[in-house]
Amino acid sequence: MTDLSFVYIIRHKDKAETPDQEVVTELTSRYHDIIELSIEQAAGFDFSNAIMLIVDVPPDNYETVTSLKKILQVTNQKSIPSFFVLGSMTRKETMQVQILGASDFLVHPVNHENFITKLGKLANNSIEDSWKALSKTQEAALKAGLKVFEDLFANVKEGQAFSNEDIRQCCDLTIKATAGDGLSDMISAIRTHHNYTYRHSMMVSGYLSAFGLLLGIKGNDMQNLVACGLIHDIGKAYVSPDLLDKPGPLTDEEWVEMKKHPEYSRQILESIECNEIIFEGCIHHHEKLDGTGYPDGLKGDEVSDIARMVAIADVFSGVTEKRSYKKSMSKEKAYDIMLSMQGHLDMDLVNAFKPIALDILPTGLNSGNKLKAVS
Ligand SMILES: [Fe+2]
Ligand SMILES: [Fe+2]
Repeated sequence: MTDLSFVYIIRHKDKAETPDQEVVTELTSRYHDIIELSIEQAAGFDFSNAIMLIVDVPPDNYETVTSLKKILQVTNQKSIPSFFVLGSMTRKETMQVQILGASDFLVHPVNHENFITKLGKLANNSIEDSWKALSKTQEAALKAGLKVFEDLFANVKEGQAFSNEDIRQCCDLTIKATAGDGLSDMISAIRTHHNYTYRHSMMVSGYLSAFGLLLGIKGNDMQNLVACGLIHDIGKAYVSPDLLDKPGPLTDEEWVEMKKHPEYSRQILESIECNEIIFEGCIHHHEKLDGTGYPDGLKGDEVSDIARMVAIADVFSGVTEKRSYKKSMSKEKAYDIMLSMQGHLDMDLVNAFKPIALDILPTGLNSGNKLKAVS
């Protein structure tokens, strides 16, 4: 399937020219990798890897409207959403965006929260629509993950219990999809999802599924491992969204708060019927072998195998992902970084993870053959 990788911003010039336009660029680049194009550059462009188009050009004269019509003919046909940012709320402009087939619009100067909400909604519609190109099992796994994840965070925030059964079903689908269809398409299909915590958790879950299959882990152990991926950061439900979405590096004080999330996970998982293995993998995924990790400062053998595996999938996912303050990183660079993390990660396991990290699995996972039977 085609990777939906970029949000394209179309303007008269290929760069923001006014402070208002700079705001649009800044807000969008917190969540997505962007490419800015002038109208001339956008004419005849393919846009196959577009998550959406942000059209930051007021359709207020004949020449502009004619150019935009040609561009949107291509994107509308490919069901790529277009989000207009208008210069003014005149009847002429609002009518014109409807005629052009815009998915949504706002007016300069944009309200930040409104813009981010609309951006997220359109991006997710586009990304979730692209899941139709996956296998039925992959699509079902991603949809189940999204549902579980949204319910999970909403329930936890309100202090309610969540369904272990839904998590189990989602893990079954993830394992089946990874064993049957490989991992890369599924990871590509969520890499740009706007809901950062969902995509991170689903990616960690997918990497752990592939890792477990590669190491021959089966049955309940496999289920527990994949479930750890899905809920390892559940404690972030208690961390302020402002901190989670902060468009820049955290201050020392903010790090102190962020590093409380495994403690919050402990409180949440203690309050439900969570088995010991999942509990262990989730609470201790930030421990380091040299004892400098958190929350318990465990050292060497005190760090369990499952916590070591979750840590590897978590670091790899975190480093390769786009975050509000950094771009995504290539899998090769990310793996090199992991190789330099002696004292933190288990190097035998990091070596075993190499085929998954570099997408060079010798058999099975990426060619659609079954690698290991899942019992
Ligand atoms: Fe974490
Ligand atoms: Fe994480």
